Amino acid sequence: MKSIATLLGLAPLVHAGLRFPCSTLTVQRLDPVVEPGALPAAHVHHIVGGNAFNASMEGDVGARFTCTTCQMADDGSNYWTAHLYFKDPDNGSYHRVPVIPVQPLLGGSQGAKGGLTVYYTQFDLSKDNLAQQKITAFKPGFRMTVGSPSETNKARTGLSYQCLNGQSRGREMSTFPTTPCTGGIFTTQHFPACWDGKNLDSPDHQSHMYNTKNSNGFLNAPACPASHPVRVPQVAYETVWDTTKFNGLWKSGQPNPFVWSFEGKADGSGTHADYLFGWKGDSLQRAMDKSECFYDGCGAITKQQMSVASQCQIPETVKEVTDGWLAHLPGRVPVA
Ligand SMILES: *[C@@H]1O[C@H](CO)[C@@H](O)[C@H](O)[C@H]1NC(C)=O
Ligand SMILES: *[C@@H]1O[C@H](CO)[C@@H](O)[C@H](O)[C@H]1NC(C)=O
Repeated sequence: MKSIATLLGLAPLVHAGLRFPCSTLTVQRLDPVVEPGALPAAHVHHIVGGNAFNASMEGDVGARFTCTTCQMADDGSNYWTAHLYFKDPDNGSYHRVPVIPVQPLLGGSQGAKGGLTVYYTQFDLSKDNLAQQKITAFKPGFRMTVGSPSETNKARTGLSYQCLNGQSRGREMSTFPTTPCTGGIFTTQHFPACWDGKNLDSPDHQSHMYNTKNSNGFLNAPACPASHPVRVPQVAYETVWDTTKFNGLWKSGQPNPFVWSFEGKADGSGTHADYLFGWKGDSLQRAMDKSECFYDGCGAITKQQMSVASQCQIPETVKEVTDGWLAHLPGRVPVA
């Protein structure tokens, strides 16, 4: 068997933080962080994680969920991003882009459906941070976002696009690929690593975190400033949007025809992601306190088969069609 390090191009194999798949939980216009209580929220999200997810989420989510689409069975957190749509260049109709699991999936993770890959990194991809600095897990009720649908600055390290072709992920770009990708479009969103130690949220859902948007979370973040002294795990999401069936409708020379569910611009600005903590008890802290979790090795942390995780479901509370050919984006999101 090929080693994981070989598959990932990393050497040697090391243990540093968590990386695991989560299947899709639901695709709906819901956003308990930015628009709590809104039924529906403004635009469609691709949501993974625990089944306590609903339009308004307060308190200890980790104590409430009864199943999760994530491989780590104690993780009832929710992770979501805007959904990608194809906009037909000839007639302006929209079609939801399918999501496929990020490859490689390891450690009994066959059976993942769509979804995204989540990272909780302690230092970087090859070292933990235990000798340098304690990593403090998030508290019940904690939430944060990165990016914003109204963000117009596309140049943000940590929010990136890659054009998948064969085995290659291609270079990281701040914009949507401008030519068709035979393996789909890969998006990454990194969250900041420093917390103010007091607030579970803030009015903009970002200022309780130190803005480390200039660092790529797969590298160790700089030291935390006095204003945000608490070092938290570096959370990142990776998603593969299977754009391949639309490649034939993207004629040579036409601009990139993919848009986010809030429309946005093909220059990639506006990409964003939301995180809502929901690990059971001290399970995330235990994982961060030891160099025991990485890829398919995870010591004391309980894992489940992805075929089981994928069965976790929640009801459709926003009853509307979000897939198939649509004359407008759900929510009639105005064209920017
Ligand atoms: C969400 O779930 C919580 C906890 O079960 C419940 O109290 C609340 O009413 C629900 N909110 C909505 C909008 O369904
Ligand atoms: C727009 O084009 C797509 C792709 O050819 C087609 O499937 C869809 O039905 C068209 N929509 C309308 C409203 O004509």
